[in-house]
Amino acid sequence: FETIDSTNKKAKELAAAGEMHGTLVTADAQLAGIGRRGRSWSSEKEAGIYMSMILRPEIETDKASMLTLIAALAVEKAIAETLKCQPMIKWPNDIVLNKKKICGILTEMTLKGTEIDYVVIGIGINVNNKAFPEEIVPTASSLSLELGREIDRELLITEVWKWFDVYYKLFLETKDLSLSKEIYENALINKGEQVKVLDPL
Ligand code: BTN
Repeated sequence: FETIDSTNKKAKELAAAGEMHGTLVTADAQLAGIGRRGRSWSSEKEAGIYMSMILRPEIETDKASMLTLIAALAVEKAIAETLKCQPMIKWPNDIVLNKKKICGILTEMTLKGTEIDYVVIGIGINVNNKAFPEEIVPTASSLSLELGREIDRELLITEVWKWFDVYYKLFLETKDLSLSKEIYENALINKGEQVKVLDPL
């Protein structure tokens, strides 16, 4: 889409109407991008990446939150490999570069009875943004601001889902994160620190 209210909202509508596992919704701009804890997600046209994937995993509901960790790992790996820099995962949902947030992930799960009907993984990456709303200026940045160059959004989208596929398949082998635990832990900025959990998923 060129412009949409929210790619997560659209993906959930499509999933509810039967759209298949692996469907990706992307937009150049969001008019009502949704962040966690009732916040909005700043979604300036053609500056960032705004995308949501529909998944229909055959896993227990209590494993669904692991999909967020897989997505975080995929974003971290895609950025590191493509742009030759070292972003870190701020457990569980954020990716930071030079300690500034450059990506947020919003995972939403819908059940059918007691089983997962679908999961939507929404990823927002600040790519070529040059400015941010005043309230997030101290904590947020973009890849372009941190690296001092323009970045190809399409290439990054492709790379994120390429790496997601790698880690998702590892996850499905064991239905847990045992095969990617070490890689994940090495990418953590808050490893060994005390953290405060505010989200259930
Ligand atoms: C956070 O608060 O850190 C999570 C932000 C998630 C934003 C992304 S942008 C693409 C997708 N569509 C939305 O409306 N939200 C997510």
